[in-house]
Amino acid sequence: MTRKRVFIAPSILASDFGELRNTVKKMNGWGIDRIHIDVMDGHFVPNITIGPQVISSIRSATDIPFETHLMIEEPHRYVKEFIDAGSDIVIVHCEAERNATKSLNLIKRYGAYAGIAINPDTDFESVKHYLPKVDTFLVMSVHPGFGGQKFMKESLSKVKQARNRIDQLGCETLISVDGGIDVKTGRMAVAAGADELVAGTAIFKSRNVLATIKKLRESR
Ligand code: DX5
Ligand code: ZN
Repeated sequence: MTRKRVFIAPSILASDFGELRNTVKKMNGWGIDRIHIDVMDGHFVPNITIGPQVISSIRSATDIPFETHLMIEEPHRYVKEFIDAGSDIVIVHCEAERNATKSLNLIKRYGAYAGIAINPDTDFESVKHYLPKVDTFLVMSVHPGFGGQKFMKESLSKVKQARNRIDQLGCETLISVDGGIDVKTGRMAVAAGADELVAGTAIFKSRNVLATIKKLRESR
């Protein structure tokens, strides 16, 4: 069952980290559903961003749910810290550990919503068994590590596969698409079955943020 409304999750990776707290405060007026926080460790991906300390320091600036996208190795070692810091949804990569079940169970045990992310080079078949166990299934439409990359159209088939499987199972798992999302590619992702659009560059570098968010939301 596709949701009636498209969820919008701006990724703060494209924002000015020196202004982060003020940015998050401003986001209160954007009518968005989640704030997407990209955590990178320099091992799982060739870039380093922020950790739980920064997340806890911006937590009091908003009530909007924090969706923390962990692009780190051995995520099970850190999920508790990210939840204690204020993450409402924690997404781990299926490629980060041999079996993501341990991390997913820990996330739920500590009271957050659990998500699994899949890289462009990973087959849907190898991860479909996680679908009934997660709240969010995040399809990467770029190779993770950096914002501002070009949307990979090949990822749309994975979105379709996930949509079919979720509908077959009748579960509530939300399909999110992350990477290179703008008004045009957002529409393609939603047409393929996405429920949520993660967008960094398209929102933060937009001349009219509210208008861009509105257009992204109207992707359906
Ligand atoms: C990439 C991150 C994305 C990124 C998206 O590794 O997971 O969330 O911030 O940025 P844009 O929208 O610029 O592709
Ligand atoms: Zn992300």
